[in-house]
Amino acid sequence: MSSDPSRDPAVARDLPALRETLNAFRAAGESVALVPTMGALHDGHLALVREARRRGKRVAVSIFVNPTQFAPHEDFDSYPRTWDSDLAKLAAEKVDLIWNPGVKTMYPDGFASRIVTEGPAVADLEDRFRPHFFGGVATVVGKLFIQCRPDVAVFGEKDYQQLRVVTRMARDLDLGVDVVGLATVRENDGLAMSSRNVYLTPAQRAVAPVLHRTMQDTATRLRAGEDVAAVVAAGGTRITEAGFALDYFEARHAETLQPVTSLQDGPVRLLVAARIGATRLIDNIGV
Ligand code: PAF
Repeated sequence: MSSDPSRDPAVARDLPALRETLNAFRAAGESVALVPTMGALHDGHLALVREARRRGKRVAVSIFVNPTQFAPHEDFDSYPRTWDSDLAKLAAEKVDLIWNPGVKTMYPDGFASRIVTEGPAVADLEDRFRPHFFGGVATVVGKLFIQCRPDVAVFGEKDYQQLRVVTRMARDLDLGVDVVGLATVRENDGLAMSSRNVYLTPAQRAVAPVLHRTMQDTATRLRAGEDVAAVVAAGGTRITEAGFALDYFEARHAETLQPVTSLQDGPVRLLVAARIGATRLIDNIGV
């Protein structure tokens, strides 16, 4: 592994290659900041990479579309895989290492161990609609932390419940990783950047910003002292009337994700998940 920053990132596809590169960083006394991803990188991911650059001497990005966090009816097979463009973007960001294991490397034959999460993972939000999801995320992120031994790991706030689950897991299991959440990167009209936005038809894309607008207006009304239950219910109605099938629109405690009835129970986070056509979008903001 060269320390020449103009070089393309090193790409590791098996554990010996990963360890060799990481050991070289460690031997030079260099800290490592990890950005876990499933590829299909957009500007939101690149913001995470830049934050990692600020926080670590070396930046590692994992690209692994994790089968265990998809249910059989979900989009694992069709999930966008854009290796060439991902590599070009990470090279432009001068990322040091890309960890790109195959499924058999991550889940060897006979794989039989999982990380089970509680607390924010059972908050009746994403877990209600994707019961398999946090088991898969916690297990793969736990493995990524053990494999890469990063000092810092940077996650987007867009997957807010995931951020809370991973933060809790790293603390509970003494993984020695400082988990950092970064504010959601948005399109000009407020839509949260997501690899799944490519699924939206032009008509659906035009409607999609209503999620962010509704959260903003709801937050404004809550700050003005209106009743939490009433304002959140009105927000849900607005989202449904715009053409979404609403999974949830909720005001929760920003750390525990437990329900709140007043801003005094806060800090408060608004979280939404809704489907338009075949695409499911999630988003959240602080109040
Ligand atoms: O947020 C994601 O892209 C994934 O859930 C993660 C954290 C990379 C785990 O597969």
